Amino acid sequence: MSRMPVPQVRPIEWRSGVLRILDQTLLPGDERYIETADWREVASAIRRLAVRGAPLIGVTAAYALALASRSSDDIAVAADELAATRPTAVNLRWALDRVRDVSGGDAIRAEAEAVCIHDEQIASDARCGELGAALIGQGATILTHCNAGSLATGGIGSALGVVKTAHWQGKRINVLVDETRPLLQGSRLTAWELAREGISHEVIVDSAAAGLIAHARVQAIVVGADRIAANGDTANKVGTYGLALAAQAHGVPLYVVAPVSTIDTNVAHGSEIEIEERDGDEVTSFASIRTAPDGTIARNPAFDVTPAALITAIVTERGVLRRPFGAAIASVTEPAAVAR
Ligand code: MRU
Repeated sequence: MSRMPVPQVRPIEWRSGVLRILDQTLLPGDERYIETADWREVASAIRRLAVRGAPLIGVTAAYALALASRSSDDIAVAADELAATRPTAVNLRWALDRVRDVSGGDAIRAEAEAVCIHDEQIASDARCGELGAALIGQGATILTHCNAGSLATGGIGSALGVVKTAHWQGKRINVLVDETRPLLQGSRLTAWELAREGISHEVIVDSAAAGLIAHARVQAIVVGADRIAANGDTANKVGTYGLALAAQAHGVPLYVVAPVSTIDTNVAHGSEIEIEERDGDEVTSFASIRTAPDGTIARNPAFDVTPAALITAIVTERGVLRRPFGAAIASVTEPAAVAR
């Protein structure tokens, strides 16, 4: 493997017992940090999306449990409260279980395990970036949805890690960034990251994507994941399924990029994945300004599930998985694969 790329953006930092969190709700306008040693404040930051993205939620929750281990609070209660903040991202429960099991509540061991999870995520992004960049052609226009970058993982990003690596390799690429309603993770966060890297990009409204795909303006779609079932069905930011349908109709490859910790082999099919329903106010207003009449009721599922049949490949740090995904996923999640 070549030298590990250094993430330009640090959405969280552990500074001897204090967690420093970049408040993503204020980006791109304001770069402000929350500094806390209180795990409950971290839980609140996760709930209101100040820190977000499945892998980064896992890393952040691991540090939060390390903070809880330093306090007199019950670790099991803290773990349950943290796990309930975002129900779809499986990395959250995975990281909490790992810190609790390894540390047994000991604060020093909890901190060491959280740091280890963070380091592993950075390494996973770098490896996924290398593997995924090989799938991107010279001159490609790549469409991405939501933010699966440094702001979502703590490393170079999963889907955006692939984009960045292709760019660093000298591939001339352009990125179409779905704005990503209702909270605009695409236009606020992904465009911010790509601008810092000097990568050519254009923001589009979500509803423009299908037309651009149909008119051969997109060579690949690259997205992250919040949870991948044992059969490859993938939950990701709402709107991913629609992109996948358009991609299949027009022969455009759809690549999911995610660490193995996003795979949940306890879930056989995507239909079993709990989809987070968020407050309807996120749909009917923006930045405290109402965008629908008073009293309007909104549905606000934060994620949808893309069936495995619509996914071309799943890029993980242990390899690029192809259909049939059931066998491929088992090959990277079974204990023998973990030991390799
Ligand atoms: O609600 P968010 O902003 O946490 O949703 C994030 C996504 O859907 C990402 O695509 C996913 O977590 C993967 S991030 C590497």
